[in-house]
Parts: sequence; structure tokens; C-alpha cells
Amino acid sequence: MKTLTVNLPGRAYDIVCGRGLLDRAGELLRPVLRGDLAVIVTDSNVEPLYAARLARSLHGAGFRAAILEIPPGEQSKTPEVLAELWEQMADLGITRSDSVIALGGGVVGDLSGFAAATILRGVSFVQIPTTLLAQVDSSVGGKVAVDLEAGKNLAGAFYQPKMVLMDPDTLKTLPDREFRCGMAEVIKYGCIRDRALFDRLAEDGGRERVMAHVEEILLRCCDIKRQVVEQDEMDTGLRMLLNFGHTLGHVYERAYGYERYNHGEAVAAGMTAAAGLGTLLGVTPEGVRGEIEALLRQYGLPTSIAAGQKDYAAALTKDKKSDGGQISFVVLREIGRAETVKLEKAKLLDLIREAGL
Ligand SMILES: NC(=O)c1ccc[n+]([C@@H]2O[C@H](COP(=O)([O-])OP(=O)(O)OC[C@H]3O[C@@H](n4cnc5c(N)ncnc54)[C@H](O)[C@@H]3O)[C@@H](O)[C@H]2O)c1
Ligand SMILES: [Zn+2]
Repeated sequence: MKTLTVNLPGRAYDIVCGRGLLDRAGELLRPVLRGDLAVIVTDSNVEPLYAARLARSLHGAGFRAAILEIPPGEQSKTPEVLAELWEQMADLGITRSDSVIALGGGVVGDLSGFAAATILRGVSFVQIPTTLLAQVDSSVGGKVAVDLEAGKNLAGAFYQPKMVLMDPDTLKTLPDREFRCGMAEVIKYGCIRDRALFDRLAEDGGRERVMAHVEEILLRCCDIKRQVVEQDEMDTGLRMLLNFGHTLGHVYERAYGYERYNHGEAVAAGMTAAAGLGTLLGVTPEGVRGEIEALLRQYGLPTSIAAGQKDYAAALTKDKKSDGGQISFVVLREIGRAETVKLEKAKLLDLIREAGL
């Protein structure tokens, strides 16, 4: 078992990672949680796989565990499902010293984290992420949210967990497409901060070899996110680097109604596009785009997604990272080193046209 500590003032917490940790959750959580009741929130895919094991481990450490199940997928990340969770938690008699444990992917984590932040004005929260995306990205950083009709993640909070507990063995049951989705974020970390990680992924070339040393990869990604979050908890500067590939990724997700491409696939295409635009801006060396494309292909990810000028214009207007007419766009100085450039939206649209995207 390996531990990383996220040092936020007054709210430091550990990320612990190790195979088989699910069965030790009770003993690991007992010292950090006060109350008796632990409300496990999970979805109906994850529940039959892992919920009973987690509940057993919690019982063994003296907790009362209750399981609340939601339907899987983004369509559950809504104010309506959030309100149902509030009612169910209230019916369970939850008190301020009790806790909420997210067992699942980013949907469960974001939704139940927001429930934990708001029920009784906040109870303790724990993340047990079971998708690759949740393990390397959404469970670390403290952003919790639900989607609104007007857009994704528009209602939410910054709410740090008491602990993040990851068991890489849970990834064994993850469908291939979900694994690929998480790999796009792993590749992103290599692009923005870690050339050696990027090269190692190229050497591995696929899921099986990645799984052979996945703990190391998970910890490396979490450590990069940890560093960035510690320096910029509220997302006003440095944290933007994590957005590499996401400005255009969001365009692609949105252009196809969030149905045809999953988040990782859209981000994959967004990263190659951003590398191309970075070259047009004179920041990214020629050749970087090709290297990223080659790595994405090894992991079965798309390297481009077609979108129209209207899609770009509409999505960029809604981009949360924009401020006034300006967009903070993340480009690579080289593989392993990212920076932001501030661009007029119109200029970015011109470049997109020039790049033939
Ligand atoms: N908070 C943040 O900082 C942050 C960052 C990135 C993404 N997100 C959010 O994360 C969400 C996406 O997360 P996700 O990709 O994990 O999606 P998800 O939670 O929908 O999980 C993907 C699918 O995998 C299934 N699943 C989960 N674990 C499994 C396992 N171990 N074995 C088999 N099946 C399993 C789920 O039931 C679901 O069908 C989005 O809502 C996104 O907005 C949040
Ligand atoms: Zn992402």
C-alpha cells in the first residue's frame, strides 16, 4: 500500500492505493471518520461487484453501513437524483458526525460528494473510485457537482474528502471503453508534466502491460494533480493546465450531444488539436502532435473528431475557462511541459479554421 498526502490548509488528506484495499477500507477509515453511520453511494453496475465487500469491511470496523444505489451514467448526475439522495440520507437518520462514501466512477463521486457537502451543511466524505478516470482525476481535487439543463457541472462546490482509497484491482472489471477513456487523462498528465510517464506509456502500449504496474501510474497521476491542486485549490491559475485537450474536447462532446464520444475520446482528439494549434501559435514544436497521435492510437483513442465552425463558436462561448472575450488555452512547450496562452475567442476560431480542424 502506498500513500500520498494532499496538503491543503486545515484539510490535509491521504490518497491510499493498493491492491485489495477494498477489504481493508474499514480499518483504514476508522481513524479518520467519527460517526457510526457510513452511507455508501454507488451505482447499479458497481453495487453487485463491490458494495457487499465494502460494507463487510466497514461492519468489521464497527460502522453501520447503508447502501444507496443510483442508476449508472451521466443521466444520474442531476439535481433530482441529488434531492433523492438527501431524502434517503435523512431517512437513514444521518447526523453531522456520520459520513458519505462514494463507491464508483466520477458520476458517483461528483454527485455523492455534492450530497455530502450539502446534507446537514456538510458531513465527512470519502472517495473510493473504481474507474480509471475517477482514480487519476475526478476523485482528487475536491470538485463536486451536478449537471444542469444549461450545461455540465454547473451547480457544485469545492469539498475535499477525508480520504481517497483506491484499489487498482477494481479496474479489472472495467469495460475496455471506460479503460480507454481513463487512459486519455493518463496520457494528458504525461503531456503536461511528465515526459518519462509519456514514454513509459508508449513502451507499455496497451491495457495489459499498464495493469502490470498500474499502481505506479495511478500514484504518478494523482501526485501531479495533487501538486497542481495544492497550489491552486480554487482553480484560478495553475489548475488550468489540467485542462489540456479539454477546451476542444468539450466542443467535440457537445457537438455530438454527449452521446457518440465519451469524455476521454473527446479529450484525446482535443489534445492532438491543441498540439496543432500550439504549433501555429509558435509554441509547440513540430512533431509533438505526431507523437501524441501515435500514443493515442496505441490505446485505441481517436486522434481527430470532425466538428463545424458553428460547434466551435457555440461551445467556446460557453467555456467556463473563458473570461470576457478571452480564453485561456493550454499548449505544450514540449511533451512534459504545458503553459497557458490567453487568446481572443475570435483569434482561436481563426486558428481552428487555419488548422483545418
Ligand atoms: N470532479 C472532477 O474533478 C472531475 C474530473 C473529471 C471528470 N469528472 C466527472 O466524472 C464523470 C465521469 O466519470 P467516469 O468516467 O468514471 O464515469 P462513470 O461514473 O459513469 O463510470 C463509467 C461506467 O463504468 C461503470 N463502472 C464504474 N466502475 C466500474 C468497475 N470497477 N467495473 C465495472 N464497471 C464500472 C459505471 O457504472 C459506469 O457505467 C463525469 O460526470 C465528469 O464530469 C469530474
Ligand atoms: Zn477530463
